[in-house]
Amino acid sequence: MITFDYTNVLESAVGSHGIPESTFPAAATSAQRAVEAIESAHRDGRLGFADLPGAEKPLSDVLGFAREHAFKNILILGIGGSALGPAALESALARPDAARKLVVLDNIDPDFISGSLETLNPSETFVNVIAKSGVTAETMATFAIVRKWMVDAVGTQGLRDRIAVTTDPEKGDLLAIARQEKYPIFEIPRNVGGRFSVLTPVGMLPAALLGFDVQALMRGAAEAASHARKPFHENPALAAAFVQWILDHQLRKSILVLFPYSQALWKFAFWFKQLWGESLGKKFDRRQREVYCGQTPTAALGVTDQHSQLQLFIEGPNNKSFLFWSVRQFQNEAKIEHPYTGFDSMGYLQGRTLEELFSAERQATEMAITEAGRPNSTVTIDKVDESAMGSLIMFSQYMTAYAGEFYDIDAFDQPGVEYGKKLTFCLMNRPGFEEYRPRIEAEKKKERKIVR
Ligand code: PA5
Repeated sequence: MITFDYTNVLESAVGSHGIPESTFPAAATSAQRAVEAIESAHRDGRLGFADLPGAEKPLSDVLGFAREHAFKNILILGIGGSALGPAALESALARPDAARKLVVLDNIDPDFISGSLETLNPSETFVNVIAKSGVTAETMATFAIVRKWMVDAVGTQGLRDRIAVTTDPEKGDLLAIARQEKYPIFEIPRNVGGRFSVLTPVGMLPAALLGFDVQALMRGAAEAASHARKPFHENPALAAAFVQWILDHQLRKSILVLFPYSQALWKFAFWFKQLWGESLGKKFDRRQREVYCGQTPTAALGVTDQHSQLQLFIEGPNNKSFLFWSVRQFQNEAKIEHPYTGFDSMGYLQGRTLEELFSAERQATEMAITEAGRPNSTVTIDKVDESAMGSLIMFSQYMTAYAGEFYDIDAFDQPGVEYGKKLTFCLMNRPGFEEYRPRIEAEKKKERKIVR
């Protein structure tokens, strides 16, 4: 069960940097329009992310496939929405003694790629190439390198048992290559965009191959999806979206600090950063007015960043909103026992637990931030398991979709990212992208200001 506590975004908690309580009753009506807009996009088939938990075939396909493909290493080739979700699931759910290891190649730094492959035995490795578009330069280049690495070890005949492709069901070169070389193909539905795709085979297949309970993941997601359609006062995702929008739009909190008090949720923060940043960072609203909107998401880890960024958060510019992610129950309480009771810095800890200290530090940070007049809110889950991760993912996707409605922008496109991809293709002389050549030539002619 996810709860959203917004006490500390209110004017009564943080003074003039907070939201007046009177804003909320009126919000319930306008927020209902956001619910209806997202519902109608789902009904029309324009959006698909909330329907994923009910799709039985992809679930049975990945579970059946995982039963027949038990490999020691799972290697993901993908980037952005085709990598961050599976990485977040692995970081949250893998046990320290896990028999299977996930390696995600989501960067093309040549030393990173070579170094990662050196740690793996190709015959013990299963490769999942993931790209919604099926053409992304980074993924296609890495695929070429990994394919050769694999062929050198197991031959071309061995590839079919060791490679699966997750991509668009109708278009893209990756799909054509997979068909040509007869790799198993898992589909990302056409109406589910990259950063909303973790509950498709993009996340489900690696999760199943790693032995996670994918059915529980999808059950958790289904529960959160039905919760996310409720009226404002019973809908944490809607309230959370509304709060961030008001904080950004009216109170100029243009930075959103994601602050998990859970090591397991650290990579989830990176997944959320893409979801929030790429969905809401837009130049135009739906009426083509220039709005340049979106909060800049950044991440801090409790308690680690208390000794790094917290000073800035408390005394630096009051331009941030904080979103804590808190966990009610950890798997271990870690009792503190020691013989140093005569030392002040140790005595009070005797017989206590790390769980208690962790919780005390989270409360202390929340209080310090609140007393400094910094609006903050908290999302709480019972514990980190498959069901909670499914819920948290669906909650976050709905929160983002609703925020898009409040900003009145298209939260599901990414023209800025696409433009960068086109310039890369032109720089690398890919046919069809010649129209960008003059801009590249102009860039080359620019006089560089360099300090040596
Ligand atoms: O959300 C998106 O659509 C993007 O960020 C993509 O996830 C990212 O660009 C990778 O695209 P693809 O899956 O086509 O390789």
